[in-house]
Amino acid sequence: MAMRFSIYMLLVLSVYFISNCPVNLAHRNEDDPTIKTMEEFSGYPIHESHFLNSLSSLSVDAETLQKQIDELSSFSDSPAPSVTRILYSEKDVLSRRYIKNLMEASGLSVREDAIGNIFGRWTGSEPELAPVSTGSHTDAIPYSGKYDGVVGVLGAIEAINVLKRSSFKPKRSLDVIMFTSEEPTRFGIGCLGSRLLAGSKELAQQLEKTVDGQNVSFFYAAKSAGYMNVEKLSTVFLEKGSYSAFVELHIEQGPILEEEATSIGIVTAIAAPASIKVDFEGTGGHAGAVLMPKRNDAGLAAAELALAVEKHVLESGSIDTVGTVGILELHPGAINSIPSKSHLEIDTRDIDEERRNSVIDKIYESALSISKRRGVKLSEYKIVNQDPPALSDELIIKAAESASQELELTYKKMISRAYHDALFMARVSPMGMIFIPCYKGYSHKPEEFATIDHIADGVKVLALTLAKLSLS
Ligand SMILES: *[C@@H]1O[C@H](CO)[C@@H](O)[C@H](O)[C@H]1NC(C)=O
Ligand SMILES: [Zn+2]
Repeated sequence: MAMRFSIYMLLVLSVYFISNCPVNLAHRNEDDPTIKTMEEFSGYPIHESHFLNSLSSLSVDAETLQKQIDELSSFSDSPAPSVTRILYSEKDVLSRRYIKNLMEASGLSVREDAIGNIFGRWTGSEPELAPVSTGSHTDAIPYSGKYDGVVGVLGAIEAINVLKRSSFKPKRSLDVIMFTSEEPTRFGIGCLGSRLLAGSKELAQQLEKTVDGQNVSFFYAAKSAGYMNVEKLSTVFLEKGSYSAFVELHIEQGPILEEEATSIGIVTAIAAPASIKVDFEGTGGHAGAVLMPKRNDAGLAAAELALAVEKHVLESGSIDTVGTVGILELHPGAINSIPSKSHLEIDTRDIDEERRNSVIDKIYESALSISKRRGVKLSEYKIVNQDPPALSDELIIKAAESASQELELTYKKMISRAYHDALFMARVSPMGMIFIPCYKGYSHKPEEFATIDHIADGVKVLALTLAKLSLS
């Protein structure tokens, strides 16, 4: 793709130098919109006088974009500045309508699948080719902020507007996607929409009997939001190769770009999470009466396992391996009672799947040996999910890299340590991600913030990247 791009550029250059006449070039461009498009979207400094215009036409309507981000944040079940927008709630339905209206206003043809993944398509000149896609989510966990996900949906629609204003003509069609339920809030399943798009039959089966905390079934909730065909889950699956590329724009949710005053992060890999639930059962008893040699303390077994998680993670020798015990519960939870039951939930991640899986194996071995040594029962050891990490596609990385260079924006390659819909889209399409800085790396809280300038830079890089991928 990059190769073909530079061949086009050479062609454009030679036409220019042979004719050495801007009028001639302009004339030729009118005859051949593809070549005109390549020039405009290269932002390449071929000849200043000629390309200043086209570069400045790659401009983001930052004011409107900020207004949209603010408006969308008002569809919330908690007071501003916090945002709470839970899957299939009234506010979620309103935000879906808002997004669909914007897509239509941008001239995209809108389609929704059975679970409410929303697609806005700009049909290219060669619609039989696999389209290029971009997008993110608009659901928000309780008391979170207004940028997570939203920047990648509203920003994608604005990227389309930017391209349209610059009279770009896509070759491959361009799809903007709003994914259903990236956050696991309501049904305990993260990236529900993209996971299903990626063809997870396991998830489709699971959803048939999934209920939320109020015992409302997934199917019932989806129907109340207007998705009457929700039971046809297999219609959501995308074939591998449905898209030639998927690119997600997102706030970094980490502090690196801001600290280093870098405008753009180009994601090379998304670390993959695994989560494990563990239960120990001991005998419990009176904290005074049962002497130490007689105890089978389920709480100490849990404590020991939590430390073992840290040890195994550190043993991996890579800074990219992480492990967290975020939940540790003791039963009955009284100061004078030896814990008879304990419950742990362990999250471990890495960009190297084998390395992460070997940590999971070691955690299991530790759980077994702790249970034997302490005489407590390992009553549950359940791997809740064990997703593979994803590497970004080299061509998409290159496209985002040259887009950043051409726009004269500083950038760095980095790893996404949080997971995103892109992790699952990687199963059916080459994938890439573009990060922008956010205030102190804050996310999932009301203080989450990104400046409109950073957002606009991200939108420009996204637009130019999509343009390149569309023509490749
Ligand atoms: C949840 O709803 C189902 C079906 O309506 C019912 O059979 C079940 O008892 C309910 N469970 C709880 C915990 O309320
Ligand atoms: Zn997100």
